[in-house]
Amino acid sequence: VSATGAAVHGVGVVRRGTAAAAEAPSKPFSRPLLVPKTAVPVHQSSTTDYYDMAIREASALILPGFRTWIFGYDGLFPGPTVRASVGRRVVIRQRNRLRRNVVVHLHGGLVAPEYDGHPADIIPPGYYRDYVYPNRQPSATLWYHDHSHRGEAEMVFYGLAGFYLLEDPWERGLNLPAGRYDIPLMLRDAHFDKRGQLVFAMDDRRRDTLLVNGRPQPFLDVYARRYRLRLLNGSNQRNFTLRLSDGAPMTVIASDGGLLPAPLRVAGVTLSPAERVDVVVDFGRYEPGTRVVLLNTAGTNGVTRNVMRFHVGRRVSDSSRVPDRLGQGFDLGSATVVRDVNLHMDPRSGQFFIDGRAFDMKRVDMKIRRGETEIWRVHNRDRLPETMHNLHLHGTHFQVLDRNGGPVAGHETGRKDTVAVPVGGHVRIKVRYDRHLGRYLYHCHLLDHSSMGMMAQAEIVG
Ligand code: C2O
Ligand code: CU
Repeated sequence: VSATGAAVHGVGVVRRGTAAAAEAPSKPFSRPLLVPKTAVPVHQSSTTDYYDMAIREASALILPGFRTWIFGYDGLFPGPTVRASVGRRVVIRQRNRLRRNVVVHLHGGLVAPEYDGHPADIIPPGYYRDYVYPNRQPSATLWYHDHSHRGEAEMVFYGLAGFYLLEDPWERGLNLPAGRYDIPLMLRDAHFDKRGQLVFAMDDRRRDTLLVNGRPQPFLDVYARRYRLRLLNGSNQRNFTLRLSDGAPMTVIASDGGLLPAPLRVAGVTLSPAERVDVVVDFGRYEPGTRVVLLNTAGTNGVTRNVMRFHVGRRVSDSSRVPDRLGQGFDLGSATVVRDVNLHMDPRSGQFFIDGRAFDMKRVDMKIRRGETEIWRVHNRDRLPETMHNLHLHGTHFQVLDRNGGPVAGHETGRKDTVAVPVGGHVRIKVRYDRHLGRYLYHCHLLDHSSMGMMAQAEIVG
């Protein structure tokens, strides 16, 4: 256990199965937060860090007294955190030790199509694939996860997700909270059976356990000083609206694609699946001994509002700060093309569509000229309260213009790769593909929806 009380991820020894099943359900805030372990390169050249990971079955200690079978990158739940630097290449050799095909996608990464994790580019059981990530984009909180055809919902649910933190030496000069005061938090829901095993079903409404970095409602010992928290909504379908229990403000410094131009003080922040924000929380405002809960106040359907709890310890010197100017502004210029994208579910067939069609990897759904700015009007054509959608684009970042004709939340004005599309509503985004030619996916990131067809592909042409 480190000085901050965050134990490093690992699998220890526990009793198995039935004897343990009699134990009481876990008490909230009774176990420390785990910080996923950092992946270690197997080789480093002057330009490149090389990693080697095995995708395999393993057991994880998620609920007290149980061993839960999971799928994990290197057998970990969540996977190891890859720490990359802007301008330094990363190559990850992903070995498939499962009995089914896998595909790995770096979410938010600007990557050539052949390394982007297209569902056609499978890694069959027993094989490996090398993914090349150039890291030529602003520093940001990214994540990697499974993208196998019709399988991403199930594979991510069982654990195939991990952080990929892209750092920039330049960013260190800003003096934001760093090192052990910079903590990634993967928030998600899950459904467990009585024997403590994860149970996946498509579009399951019973995912009633909240996990942070793979543990239910953990606590974190913090010093009375500033921390950077990197919040990722890693749920298949659940929205989070996150606030502190005492109503204290959080300072948003980054969204999906990197630092905002300026910090933003907010009372709370809403994340749909796959969205990220980095916030700075000043625990120095509290008396040592104070306990502060991170609450989820989104429609919780009877699920606990308590996500995790911070236990504020002693005051320590804190030279970090949040400067008034952070990243570069992001403006894609004026658009020459306008398109509509329609997200829709057919309640009779249970199929999910984009523009009336379910995903077909042999079909190109739109052709886009590289370097041309477009406006997409993205519509959620469903009206039932439970049919929220969002839209994620591979291969680029976009600008969010408005939602239902009105302004969007402050953190949504930065570089984005995923945006919420409310029931019966629409968002307008400005899109430009500047990098590679070839095919990139776009899809709803409610993974049960994308796995059931709400996915399409664009071909970027010269
Ligand atoms: Cu986070 Cu196409 O995915
Ligand atoms: Cu959807």
